[in-house]
Amino acid sequence: MKRVVVAIDGPAGAGKSTVARRLADKLGFLYLDTGAMYRAVALWALRANIDLNDMHRLEQLALSSDISFKDQGRRVFLNGEDVTEAIRQPRVSAAASQVSTIPGVRRALVQKQREMAEGVSVVMEGRDIGSVVFPAADVKVFLDAAPEIRAERRAKELQQRDGMANSEEVSSELRQRDERDRNRAEAPLVQAPDAVYIDSSKLSLDEVEEVLLRVVRERVSNGRELSR
Ligand code: DC
Repeated sequence: MKRVVVAIDGPAGAGKSTVARRLADKLGFLYLDTGAMYRAVALWALRANIDLNDMHRLEQLALSSDISFKDQGRRVFLNGEDVTEAIRQPRVSAAASQVSTIPGVRRALVQKQREMAEGVSVVMEGRDIGSVVFPAADVKVFLDAAPEIRAERRAKELQQRDGMANSEEVSSELRQRDERDRNRAEAPLVQAPDAVYIDSSKLSLDEVEEVLLRVVRERVSNGRELSR
């Protein structure tokens, strides 16, 4: 079977990570969470007290960071340390959105993303996968949901993990991040013209997965090679 690239882009809280991983598992593809890479660089910057506007130092940091994944993206490592939980803190989410506006940081991470996916079939999720990282991806999906639904999902996720979440705060944090991700000059969050748009607001996880599988099968193999 030829190598297949599935690009899943969309705003925070649209359900990308969960469905992208499930899709990758089903298809037997590698799963790559590119947001985790921006988060890892942001975590390092926060720990090292680097000014988040210092483009030069942040680019150096991104270039020298060793970011890897284990267990199909469930564990994230930065320079050998397991940072899976640390990168999910709200302050890291905000910092990741900030460092991701820096062109040099993006260049460094996009290069790593292409290398990690070299020669293997992959489901890659982020903001610019179908537009910048793999503009020739076999399948492009733009996964969206209404802002209030995304905020609700994110609050639930934080509640399950940390036992608390202020929904007002979550919703304002998400709004700020969205605005920055959509309006930055370099590789903003946009729907690629050839991407399939899916609104997950009223769909269950199973339903989103089903739609995605159908799109992949239609676009890649006419339902033959990929039907596992
Ligand atoms: O997907 P996420 O919420 O974990 O991503 C964290 C931040 O990283 C997000 O606010 C924007 C940035 N990001 C990006 O600019 N490009 C990507 N391909 C993935 C994430």
